[in-house]
Amino acid sequence: MDSAAASKLFRRLDRELWVVTAGDGVRRGGLLATFVSQASIVPHLPRVLVGLAKRHHTWELVESSGAFGLHLLGEEQLDWAWRFGLSSGRDSDKLSGLATRVGASGAPLLTEAPGWLDCRVEARLDTGDRTVYLAEVVDARAPNPCPILTVKRMLQMAPADRRRILEEQLVRDGAADACAIEEWRRGGR
Ligand SMILES: Cc1cc2nc3c(=O)[nH]c(=O)nc-3n(C[C@H](O)[C@H](O)[C@H](O)COP(=O)(O)O)c2cc1C
Repeated sequence: MDSAAASKLFRRLDRELWVVTAGDGVRRGGLLATFVSQASIVPHLPRVLVGLAKRHHTWELVESSGAFGLHLLGEEQLDWAWRFGLSSGRDSDKLSGLATRVGASGAPLLTEAPGWLDCRVEARLDTGDRTVYLAEVVDARAPNPCPILTVKRMLQMAPADRRRILEEQLVRDGAADACAIEEWRRGGR
């Protein structure tokens, strides 16, 4: 398998950044994600697919609540990338100080995001490193049309120290994901 070619192909893409939030009534949290896709073309039945690594705090909250919020980021929310993407919600409340409300699904929603989807899990697939959730969108807001923050734009705007931490984390996460995928393929599935 030409893994270098696969990596080269993926590098041509520029994914939008999302913040996935969840809460179980006691705890709340969220993470930065690129594994988010529209999963229905039926306007009155919107659905999404989201992949969350099973070692993350947010995964625990989605598992226990069956719901999550999805938020697009604008360039003004660059600091949310560090807040949600670089630490674990087991150590602090990542939503602290941000404007929130509880959505129809029960998930906490970041009301200052330039767009959000409130989602209820309909099905899940264990893929070893991640759980892939299919969810129905039960509520949505798209208030502010503004340039959406993507991975490439985030990296352009990132101070050098943040960029280094992101790259180090990517290597660590990749190593953990590789172990989980290989174990799953060996028969844990
Ligand atoms: C650019 C970027 C994209 C990411 N995409 C995902 C993703 O799609 N799914 C996921 O589970 N984690 C993803 N992560 C990792 C989590 O955001 C990160 O590990 C986070 O700190 C986990 O927080 P938690 O333990 O509080 O849930 C991504 C991180 C970065 C920097």
